[in-house]
Order: sequence, then C-alpha cells, then structure tokens
Amino acid sequence: MTEPQQTFYDAVGGADTFHKLTAKFYEEVAKDEIVRPLYPEEDLGPAERRMRMFLEQYWGGPRTYSDERGHPRLRMRHSPFRIGPMERDAWLRCMYVAIDSIDRSVLDDAHRAQLVDYMDMAANSMVNSPI
Ligand code: HEM
Repeated sequence: MTEPQQTFYDAVGGADTFHKLTAKFYEEVAKDEIVRPLYPEEDLGPAERRMRMFLEQYWGGPRTYSDERGHPRLRMRHSPFRIGPMERDAWLRCMYVAIDSIDRSVLDDAHRAQLVDYMDMAANSMVNSPI
C-alpha cells in the first residue's frame, strides 16, 4: 500500500507556518506606503485572515476559504484596485520579508523556492494596469 502524499501545507508546518507567514506579511503591508493605501479597511485583520485561508487551501490545507468565500476568482476580486508594476513589486517585497522570516528548519530551501516562484507568478497575474 502506498502512503498518501504529504501536502506542501503539512510539509512546511501546517497552520502555525501559515499564521506566521501572513502575520508577518500584513505587518509589512501596514508599513508600506505603496500597498497600504490600497486596502479599503482600517483594520487589516480580516484581510489577513482571508489571505491565510486562501494560501492554506491553495497549498493543500483546510478548505475554509472556499467554504466562506466561494471560488477564489482572485483577478476579479483585485479589479477594484489599480495594480501596476510598482504595486506588484511592493507587494512582493512584503511577501519576501514574510517568507524570509520563516525558520529554515520549517521551510527548507526547496519549499522556500517553490513558495517564492508561486508568489512571483501570482503577483504578476494580478497586475491590471500598465503603470
Ligand atoms: C485581497 C491587494 C496580490 C490574495 C486584496 C485586497 C487588496 C489586495 C487591496 C482587499 C483586501 C481585503 O481582502 O479586504 C493586492 C495587491 C497585490 C495583490 C496590491 C499585488 C500584486 C495578491 C496575490 C494573492 C492575493 C498574489 C495570492 C497569492 C488575496 C486574497 C484576498 C486579497 C486571497 C482576499 C480575497 C477575498 O475577498 O476573498 N488584495 N493583492 N493578492 N488578495 Fe491581494
């Protein structure tokens, strides 16, 4: 009998790692002069939770995001915000700081590279303005 394959979510420490990642990311967003003004709410807590649920689901964890929010349709959900190359780069800077903050004993180089590649791809796909 073959063992069921371990998900990325489990391999990198599950809920605890995704909590740390999104908490650090939003800590950076809160300080960022380019990205912060795009967020409509003063309280970033609910946005942090949506991001965490989305990422957990994407990487094989609980499917709470879709239970609560339906299909992600992320490009559509970002259409109210003007996202040009500058916003994308600022967002990615925050995300790289967050990824870097996760201990190497939990997120090894191979998983780190996978996460960085995904974030690069996803951030590029969210760009909806040439400037
Ligand atoms: C929501 C900005 C890229 C995932 C939002 C919101 C803003 C925003 C302003 C609304 C906040 C809220 O949820 O209340 C940006 C900018 C990006 C970017 C400037 C630059 C490229 C991404 C990427 C992902 C992502 C790459 C996924 C990997 C999400 C999710 C939500 C969200 C899951 C909540 C969607 C929902 O309503 O369920 N983003 N975002 N974002 N963003 Fe982004």
